[in-house]
Amino acid sequence: MSGRLSVSDAVARRRSVRAFQDRPVDRTVVEAIMRRAARAPSGGNVQPWAVRVVDGSRLAGLLAMMRRLRAEAPEGEPLDPPFQPTAGPPPEFVRRRMRNGEILYGALGIDRSDTAARAAWNEENFQFFGAPLGVFILTPRVGNGWQWLDVGIYLQTALLLFEEAGLGTCPQADWAIHGESVAAFLGAPAGYRLICGIAVGHTDASRPENRIRTERDDPFADDPDAAPPPRGDPA
Ligand SMILES: Cc1cc2nc3c(=O)[nH]c(=O)nc-3n(C[C@H](O)[C@H](O)[C@H](O)COP(=O)(O)O)c2cc1C
Repeated sequence: MSGRLSVSDAVARRRSVRAFQDRPVDRTVVEAIMRRAARAPSGGNVQPWAVRVVDGSRLAGLLAMMRRLRAEAPEGEPLDPPFQPTAGPPPEFVRRRMRNGEILYGALGIDRSDTAARAAWNEENFQFFGAPLGVFILTPRVGNGWQWLDVGIYLQTALLLFEEAGLGTCPQADWAIHGESVAAFLGAPAGYRLICGIAVGHTDASRPENRIRTERDDPFADDPDAAPPPRGDPA
């Protein structure tokens, strides 16, 4: 590839990657990306994030701990707000989530009714889908109410920079289910809680789970003032 990706190309090409080549990732590159991503805006410039990178034998130790934890207490730890879902998600969330599952499990050849296979696949979350490196984002436990927005912007900025660097990623909120244990393992700063992990590695493009293209609805749906969307992929 010559030259850098345009922002539009990085946005269009980024996708969640859930299978990786057996090839290491240079941790200094990852740290540089997570530092560069901190140019992301945050309300009042409070920068409500701290980051940890895990690879090599430390990653192996973490994944072994997760296998134990998942076997002992797969329900995880109680989630504090705002991670607790409110009662009854809106119907469009349910519809889109189901469609997402259809696409992913369809690619994996896992039948909807095959709960054992789905559960086994779910465990891959806690093994970083085989990635050689994992990133964790933490935020202060106390906050200003909008820091979640800031962390989301930081996360996507990082994902786009990984795309530019030719690395595949999967953002994973599932790690927050075991946030306390993982934060303790990481030696997280006092008063911080885990928000998410990011699996990072070289994409295994041959794997079907990496070949799916997830769908998007028009965010202007039902707005009579908006022009109709262009045909095809909006990106
Ligand atoms: C905040 C956040 C948390 C996510 N958590 C998980 C996760 O725990 N496990 C997983 O497999 N994917 C996770 N994803 C990936 C989403 O499923 C994915 O972004 C979505 O299906 C759209 O697909 P795309 O990323 O390929 O465009 C997460 C994405 C975001 C933004």
